[in-house]
Amino acid sequence: MKARVAVFVSGGGTNLQAIIDASLRGDIPSAEIALVCSNKSDAFALDRAKNHGIKAVVCEKLPGEKRMDVESKLLKVVLDEKIDLIVLAGFMMILSENFIKSFPGKIINVHPALIPSFCGKGFYGLKVHEAALEKGVKVTGATVHYVNEIPDGGEIIAQKAVDVLEGDTPEILQKRVMEEAEWILFPRAVEIVSKSIISDKEAK
Ligand code: GAR
Repeated sequence: MKARVAVFVSGGGTNLQAIIDASLRGDIPSAEIALVCSNKSDAFALDRAKNHGIKAVVCEKLPGEKRMDVESKLLKVVLDEKIDLIVLAGFMMILSENFIKSFPGKIINVHPALIPSFCGKGFYGLKVHEAALEKGVKVTGATVHYVNEIPDGGEIIAQKAVDVLEGDTPEILQKRVMEEAEWILFPRAVEIVSKSIISDKEAK
C-alpha cells in the first residue's frame, strides 16, 4: 500500500521536482504522487507535473470569488482523488482552519528558514531570505513541519542548517537553502510521514 500524495504549488515547483526525482529514484517507497494542485494557472510546477504524467489541476480564484471558493475546489479534488497526505511545496495561500481541520496531521509544509526564525504571516519565498540577510544571521536553513491553524506554527518534522556567506544576495541564499536543505529534507519528510500514515491505516 502507498499513501496517495497531493502536492500543492503556486510557482516554479523545484521542491515538487525534488519529490518527483526522489520518487523516481525509489527513495519514497511509501508514497505515490497522485495529484498536483496549483492556485495559479501559470505556475511552471504544472508543466513539471504534466511532464511526469501526474494529474495536474488548477484551483484558481476567479473574479468575484473568495478564498473559501478556492478551498472548496481544492477540497473536492482532494476528496475525489482519495488523497492521504497534502504536501505544500511553495503553496502561497494560507489555508483556513476549517480546511486544515479536515486533514488533521495530514498536511505538511516546507519553509525556507529555521523556524521559529523568519516565519509566520508575510514570510514567504524571497522575503524570508531578505529578512535573514537584513538581520545578519550567519546560519539559516529550512524546516519541514506539520500544518496547523497558526502559519508556520505546527510540529517540526525536520530541519537543516545552511551557512550564510559574505556577499550573499537573497537570490543566492535562496538557491543555497534549496540545494543544501529543502530538496534533501522535503522528500525525506514525505517518506517518513507517508510511511506512518500507511502503518496507521494498516493497523485499523
Ligand atoms: C521554496 O523556497 C519554499 O520553501 C518557499 O517557497 C519556495 C518555493 O519554491 N515556501 C514558502 O516560503 C512558504 N512559506 P518552489 O516553487 O521552486 O518549490
